[in-house]
Amino acid sequence: MSQWRDFFDRHAPHYMENRFVKNTLAEVDFIEKELSLTPNMRVLDVGCGAGRHSVELAKRGYCVTGIDFSQGMLEQARQNALTAGVSVDFVETDARSYRTEQPFDAAICLCEGGMGLIEMLEDPVEHDSGILQTVAACLKPGAPFLLTALNGYRTLRSMTQEDVVSGRFDPATMVATHTEEMELPEGKDIMKYRERLFTPPEMSQLLKAQDFEVLSMWGGTAGSWNKKPLNLDEIEMMFVCRRLP
Ligand SMILES: C[S@@+](CC[C@H](N)C(=O)[O-])C[C@H]1O[C@@H](n2cnc3c(N)ncnc32)[C@H](O)[C@@H]1O
Repeated sequence: MSQWRDFFDRHAPHYMENRFVKNTLAEVDFIEKELSLTPNMRVLDVGCGAGRHSVELAKRGYCVTGIDFSQGMLEQARQNALTAGVSVDFVETDARSYRTEQPFDAAICLCEGGMGLIEMLEDPVEHDSGILQTVAACLKPGAPFLLTALNGYRTLRSMTQEDVVSGRFDPATMVATHTEEMELPEGKDIMKYRERLFTPPEMSQLLKAQDFEVLSMWGGTAGSWNKKPLNLDEIEMMFVCRRLP
């Protein structure tokens, strides 16, 4: 039972109405350049969702595999690929355990494609290490990896001691537990969920522990990728890495 998978299954038909997905073409321009992609390279999209990056990369001539554990999101992704007239290998699987016999030339994990989305009783470090282990195991040595994840500084600046006392924020694990009414394109949804917040040094350590070299770290909020230092109030941060040989 995964509460995040249930959430994405419900949200899937409306995912592409979110404002933050509107800059996909510029994001894929950025990915191509930053990861030095060349035609026919095999690219892994972890937590691919409705396939917005996977489909655009396939349109540009890359061989893309998109993995996601939400059947609903994958239905949208397959429909988007069909509409675009491209072939993408979409695989329903958990990013914590996926493996392949054929390693990839590059990987992306964008917009919380699993990282930081912790289940109710789950150990957050095991969760995120599991996803990074998958990426490392699926990449060729030396291959590039682009990751965006939640910027913990932003949430920390809004937390109070009351949040700690009430259990909404655990300073020991950096996990926030929210029960909130969410404004979604499909309407309002009341959801209880756990999110792990990251600081850049901590994420760098997690990446290094899985044999990634961190090449750059910038702000990385969807829709505004510009290689600028992380703004403390922005939603996401970005890491450009390379799997060590
Ligand atoms: C916010 S969406 C991002 C989708 C896409 N990367 C994008 O930028 O639009 C997060 C996606 O990650 C998927 N996801 C979350 N945890 C996952 C896990 N453990 N394994 C596989 N997919 C996961 C969800 O199902 C959802 O489709």
